[in-house]
Amino acid sequence: MRFTRFSALMFVGTMAVLGSGAMLPSDAADSKGGAAGQAVSGEYKLQIPFGLDGDSAVIPADNPLTKDKVELGRLLFFDKRLSKDNTIACASCHLSKFAFTDGQRVSAGIRGQKGGRSAPASFNRVFSKAQFWDGRAATLEEQSVGPFANPIEHGFANHDEMIAKMKKIPGYRKLFKEVFGEEITIDGVGKAIASFQRTVLSGNSPADRFDQGGDEKAIPAAAQKGLILFREKARCTKCHSGFNFTDEKFHNLGIGWDTNTVDLGRYMVTKNPADIGAFKTPTLREIARSAPYMHDGRFKTLEEVVNFYNQAGVKNPHQDELILPLDLTDEEKRNLVEFLRTLNGEGWQQVKAPTSFPR
Ligand code: HEC
Ligand code: HEC
Repeated sequence: MRFTRFSALMFVGTMAVLGSGAMLPSDAADSKGGAAGQAVSGEYKLQIPFGLDGDSAVIPADNPLTKDKVELGRLLFFDKRLSKDNTIACASCHLSKFAFTDGQRVSAGIRGQKGGRSAPASFNRVFSKAQFWDGRAATLEEQSVGPFANPIEHGFANHDEMIAKMKKIPGYRKLFKEVFGEEITIDGVGKAIASFQRTVLSGNSPADRFDQGGDEKAIPAAAQKGLILFREKARCTKCHSGFNFTDEKFHNLGIGWDTNTVDLGRYMVTKNPADIGAFKTPTLREIARSAPYMHDGRFKTLEEVVNFYNQAGVKNPHQDELILPLDLTDEEKRNLVEFLRTLNGEGWQQVKAPTSFPR
């Protein structure tokens, strides 16, 4: 684990004064549900919660964070008019109350249609390059426009159809002019939504305060034992490594290989046989808030997840060799789950739905 930076420690001090659950101090205008169309300019400074490594943020040079772009992205993320029948927004499947997942086994899009995968957490995206369970979007900009032309998500036939619909909303034409100096384009939509998504963060969890902040009382004794198991006997950090609990790599645990409809995951993107059935290691931050679990949403509880790992997942010819039987006792399983429960933090709570949208 990294050493704590002094400035980060000072930040914890601030949080302690504000009390738990307080909003992170932020100069972003987005915590108040500010009026649509309000033009704020200037650089947006990311407020990185304690425990996250701000230096690892991925912000492309051609899409710097600005306050007005983030605000535009927030409007677009929550606006249901950006779907074929005005029923679905990004926020329909990434709900703030479930730490930006949807609490469903698999997500439902327009006309209640269901896809084959569970909605992953959409916070701390600023720390990842490849997005989606299979990493098919190389950038967050690319990810941010994918759902619009997905027939069972936002339901447009293509991006042109959506842009044509948006151009009928003068308020958006005005905002795009202000932010990008040009007409509404899908490129601009992607840049704005990606910028907004980069501000949705989770850090400063009790585990961070214990592990990096040196606060011995931040997590209970059982969770402290669980942390040691997490790193050693249970082998979790073989993949859930680093400050965001992910190696950003793809692994086959065997999810789906006990059914007759296996999702080939990363292989469908790379066509590399080594990637058959492999999925991206997800972050474990907020994990107690983001059930159900795995790309097919098969597990309702963390206890089920730990049992799955304990028995070495589901055997299949392409299973990752890092997956081994763990031989955990019942008490060790409980401690491991106790640790996972200390990973809920803050940052994303400040993101509020807009109170009004451009007309
Ligand atoms: C109908 C529900 C639904 C809608 C609407 C939706 N998403 Fe998702 N989102 C999902 C599902 C399901 C996945 C996983 C799909 C996959 O990985 O193949 C996902 C994946 C993601 C990811 C990847 C997270 C990761 O860890 O890689 C991000 C980010 C995201 N969505 C943001 C958005 C944005 C932005 C919008 C609006 C433009 C949006 N979503 C609209 C359900 C939805
Ligand atoms: C070989 C790499 C690897 C190891 C070791 C590993 N994981 Fe995972 N973990 C993954 C991948 C990959 C997924 C997503 C798999 C899928 O859905 O197909 C995942 C998913 C999860 C999820 C569900 C996350 C979500 O958002 O749905 C939890 C919880 C989890 N792991 C906890 C653990 C714990 C606890 C351990 C140690 C006992 C562990 N993992 C060990 C790679 C790993």
